[in-house]
Amino acid sequence: MIVGIETTAHTFGVGVVKNGKVLANVKDMYKPLDGGIIPNKSAEHHKLVAQQIWDEALSKAGCSDSDIEAIAVSNAPGLAPCLHAGLNFAKMKATKLGVPIVPVNHCIAHLEIGQSVGASDPVLLYASGANTQVIAYSSGKYRVFGETLDLGVGNFIDTFGRHVGIPFPAGPVLEGKAKNGKYIPDLPYSIKGMDVSFSGMQTKLKQLYEKGVSVENLAFSMQETAFAMLVEAAERALAHTGKKELVLGGGVACNARLQEMCRMMCEERGAKMFCPAREFLVDNGWMIAYTGEILFNSGIKNKPNGVEIDARERTDQVIVKWK
Ligand code: ATP
Ligand code: FE2
Repeated sequence: MIVGIETTAHTFGVGVVKNGKVLANVKDMYKPLDGGIIPNKSAEHHKLVAQQIWDEALSKAGCSDSDIEAIAVSNAPGLAPCLHAGLNFAKMKATKLGVPIVPVNHCIAHLEIGQSVGASDPVLLYASGANTQVIAYSSGKYRVFGETLDLGVGNFIDTFGRHVGIPFPAGPVLEGKAKNGKYIPDLPYSIKGMDVSFSGMQTKLKQLYEKGVSVENLAFSMQETAFAMLVEAAERALAHTGKKELVLGGGVACNARLQEMCRMMCEERGAKMFCPAREFLVDNGWMIAYTGEILFNSGIKNKPNGVEIDARERTDQVIVKWK
């Protein structure tokens, strides 16, 4: 069995995998009282809950210490204090158990789990709080075909939510409000090549809110506009690479309207859409364990003190030796 630990941002998660199967996926999320994530506070949270989440995951998986072959940990990219908390915990466990550590890039894990739902060589639309990227494999690396030039789409949605009095995470609440909204055509649609940007739309949303436009109408129009940009970028990547599969990842991909728009685009161009279950779309330990197992089976493993964090590692810096 491989145990995976996720701690790049607000979630402390532990997952257990064997031959690609989910044996356990347990997590606890740091929730700021107001405003955004404070990295040190989130790291404190992770240290506090680590042992308990570990115990719960191992007991759910029916996994004893001697079953553990390696510990996978998301050492990049993310918030440095949070990454440190996770890596230190992983090193402590690996040393105690005498097993190696497998470092896993968080963004790549979102893509790799596409295989668990049937994808083989997909384009990933990774739409989370901090990240918004379109990623696909090409000659030895995962390449970023397009990305946000400013905010991640989830942060963009959460910031607008905060402005209108909806606490973090605002995405699910605004999705509900959008159901009663109508389209207003005034929001800037901003895509350049395969890159998107949200700051212009953010300013416009605030202005329209101050003018008295309802949150419902703003939520609906925001979703239609922002998601159309993401779908367009994903479609360009499919066209450019000639790939026939789209995988969704990241918390924003929980949004039913985004899923619907992606499905329509895929149907129109004869591609297949794959969407992991909600608990695997958001940050979780299982996706790290799943990816860790693939890397481990290809011979990637380190001594516990041979792994460091890399808060800014980019998806295309990772040499993909396992494909
Ligand atoms: P990463 O570290 O991968 O960037 P993250 O921690 O920033 O991840 P996730 O846990 O993947 O983010 O997702 C959280 C984000 O998803 C929040 O911004 C939240 O508002 C958004 N979100 C969750 N559900 C929905 C939804 N139904 N509609 C829109 N956004 C959603
Ligand atoms: Fe993530």
